[in-house]
Amino acid sequence: MKLWGGRFTKPTNELVDEYTASIHFDKRLAKQDVIGSMAHVEMLKQCDILSETEAGNIQDGLRAIAEKIAAGKVKMHVENEDIHMNIEKLLIDEIGPVGGKLHTGRSRNDQVALDMRLYLREELLELISLAASLQEALANTAEEQADTLMPGYTHLQRAQPVSFAHHLLAYIFMLQRDIERLQESWKRVNKSPLGAGALAGTTFPIDRYIVSDLLGMDGICDNSLDAVSDRDFVVEFLANASLLIAHLSRLCEELVIWSSAEFKFIELDDAFCTGSSMMPQKKNPDVAELVRGKSGRVYGNLMGMLTTLKGLPLAYNKDMQEDKEGMFDTVDTLKGALQLFSPMIESMRVNKEKMQQAVSDDFSNATDLADYLVSKGLPFREAHAVVGQIVLYCIQQGDKFILDLSLAEMKSFSDLIDEDIYQALTGMAVVNARDVAGGTAINRVHEQLQTVECLLQETDEWTAQKYEKLTSVKEGAHLS
Ligand code: ARG
Repeated sequence: MKLWGGRFTKPTNELVDEYTASIHFDKRLAKQDVIGSMAHVEMLKQCDILSETEAGNIQDGLRAIAEKIAAGKVKMHVENEDIHMNIEKLLIDEIGPVGGKLHTGRSRNDQVALDMRLYLREELLELISLAASLQEALANTAEEQADTLMPGYTHLQRAQPVSFAHHLLAYIFMLQRDIERLQESWKRVNKSPLGAGALAGTTFPIDRYIVSDLLGMDGICDNSLDAVSDRDFVVEFLANASLLIAHLSRLCEELVIWSSAEFKFIELDDAFCTGSSMMPQKKNPDVAELVRGKSGRVYGNLMGMLTTLKGLPLAYNKDMQEDKEGMFDTVDTLKGALQLFSPMIESMRVNKEKMQQAVSDDFSNATDLADYLVSKGLPFREAHAVVGQIVLYCIQQGDKFILDLSLAEMKSFSDLIDEDIYQALTGMAVVNARDVAGGTAINRVHEQLQTVECLLQETDEWTAQKYEKLTSVKEGAHLS
């Protein structure tokens, strides 16, 4: 008999059981479900809705079930639909009819919303830590490569040289925004919907704040209808995740380009590449390609969730059960990508000479020649035109670049050019001339690296504090 079978005259069609069940995927919420129930029962006891003995029995039963689940000794049943009813059934089997008191003053609608929030707040911490580890890996490489120069690009055409570290730092700051967004979302995730009941609240004299305190949450959802129908926190997570993987995907694209024979700026370690079944010479940057490719499913999960919610009337609708798989998939996809990314960056070899070569065999110092002429009094627009002519002259001469010209050749374009130009136009001089906050001058790169060190420290402290909170919640419930 179904937990809700009272008003039914027939058993459910087997296909309906199969189709409407969520146990296949929400079994992942078992731990959260038990922790939420422990807090709920504790509150019912403190509010004199359950006796000490009843509450104690239920809590012991829940702990026993949690242990069995963790040990893989429990079989979940499709007929019990979801993790909530499976656990409730298990509890009744374990301790008898008193187990049926667990669901007093509660609905699966507020229960599932709570479980999702408990799940996500923990995964957010994991993801933030992993993103910070990647920042650290990038920062270590940047530290080593602070004075390695590479062409900076616009339109994928060489533009102005930059420090390779400066380029990597750009990604570190993107990841910083990702981390901040995830942290910011935490406070909206970490609210308790429990006590909203099915939609309107409950007739029992419960205290919602006891539950939220026991669970280390930052207060309650203020409106019961909103509490059970709000999945903004899932959408927000999926959107933040989409940006994060967009950033990773852009870096992946660079790794793929840089490791091509045409660029050869870097070499990815063998351990992070794969071969071809047909072409013996191949070494493919599969990990980078796959992270880039998986951005598609992460965006897809965001679109799926937004579409599921669009047009749903208040309050709970079964449609909302579709909130879970996309969220789990996005968590798994991001974790997989971030876990691989740090060691892939740490083990990559940087071809300093090749990058350096690309800086010298090119016109990326042209702006600096124009700036040089400006410093000698020429209006920028005229300087731009003079340098344009010099570049054209070089191209017409064949394989020549500005520094290959003699002083006499240069002077034929502008008398303002002197011997000191040969020093001013070297790659390092050009880079160091961009000595502006956030610029690529080597000392500015070191400044950025210092900023990153502080940011990493802050993230570390933030996550440690939250982890501590979660651990104390589990200890409070006597759950490991
Ligand atoms: N398995 C359901 C879900 O994930 C739990 C809530 C079910 N509530 C209901 N009224 N049918 O959304």
